[in-house]
Amino acid sequence: MTTREHVPLRTLTTFRLGGDARFVIDCENEADVYAARAFAKERGLPSYVLGGGSNVLAADDGYAGVIIRMNVPGIAEEAVAEDAARLIAGAGVSWDTLVAEAARRGLWGVENLAGIPGTAGAAPVQNIGAYGTELSGSLEWIDAVPADADRVERLAAAELALAYRDSRLKREKGWIVLRIALRLRRDGAPMLAYRDLASRKEAGEPLRTPAEVGRAVREIRAGKFPDLSVSGTAGSFFKNPVIRSAEAKALAERYPGLPVYPADEETSKVSLAWILDCVLDARGLSVGGARLFERQPIVIVAGDGATAKDVELLAETVARRVEEATGISIEREVRTLA
Ligand code: EPU
Repeated sequence: MTTREHVPLRTLTTFRLGGDARFVIDCENEADVYAARAFAKERGLPSYVLGGGSNVLAADDGYAGVIIRMNVPGIAEEAVAEDAARLIAGAGVSWDTLVAEAARRGLWGVENLAGIPGTAGAAPVQNIGAYGTELSGSLEWIDAVPADADRVERLAAAELALAYRDSRLKREKGWIVLRIALRLRRDGAPMLAYRDLASRKEAGEPLRTPAEVGRAVREIRAGKFPDLSVSGTAGSFFKNPVIRSAEAKALAERYPGLPVYPADEETSKVSLAWILDCVLDARGLSVGGARLFERQPIVIVAGDGATAKDVELLAETVARRVEEATGISIEREVRTLA
């Protein structure tokens, strides 16, 4: 366990924004987590759990509390059946390293989630998803520390209320994920329904193994998302709105071409990127140093000199304009570090 003081949050978040955190404690295991929480409690300070910092917006005036950074290492494989294996990863393992490990072992289930930044421990919090796959399809259980006690609870995926970019861990404050377990298949098949993957398949690209699919997904992402080594960003800043299907139908009649995907019996997901691009002509819209990414306007990029305030104002402007044009009140995907 290491404790540091006055650490710039821009060094801990992929947005590369934010003032100083009063304390940052790096935790390698369960005992460190208990010690870090006791440290905060003794000083009467709040705490905030951070993984890779790839889905949070830190404020310009920093955080007057204790950042608990989860660095629990390790990946282990357990045989569960002839055609399945369990991969257990410490919360601090990079998600994409875990995806690469699954591919190296020929295990199917998370290859479409290749290239997503962040840690394994953060993945269940927002039930990461991409290219037609969500973590909920492979997550078996998590080990987590509850808010009010120094003990570890094993929660089955079914207990986590995993939904589109949502979970119980996002809604109930205080859970700290120590490790996650994925159940993956040896006899899986590529899931190529998502348009960008289907068109590669049609063009004759070999997409026969988890490694080949993972490579294709990383390439697609590289073409759509800002390069994290160059630009500050947290990926999709907003969720795609899930609205009543009748409303979605009316909207698609008003705006022909609007992509609409059925979500459940009564609701449908509509493409916010399309609304921003084709209804609002908002690609590249900027406030100060923050702008909507030219190739994918659901993504906010923090350019040179950007502040968290710029991002806030841009996000508010976007939400207002979407509401005026469509009546939809959009939700953020990115969390605010506060
Ligand atoms: N589109 C436009 N103009 C653009 C870009 C996109 O009109 O400039 C339209 C197109 O019709 C396109 C559609 O928007 O087909 C959807 O775009 P895209 O395929 O890029 O996906 P998305 O719905 O905007 C979601 C996830 C991403 C995930 C991709 C791929 C959310 C909030 N975002 O984006 O997840 O990688 O699908 O599956 O659900 C993240 O959560 O941070 C994230 C990056």
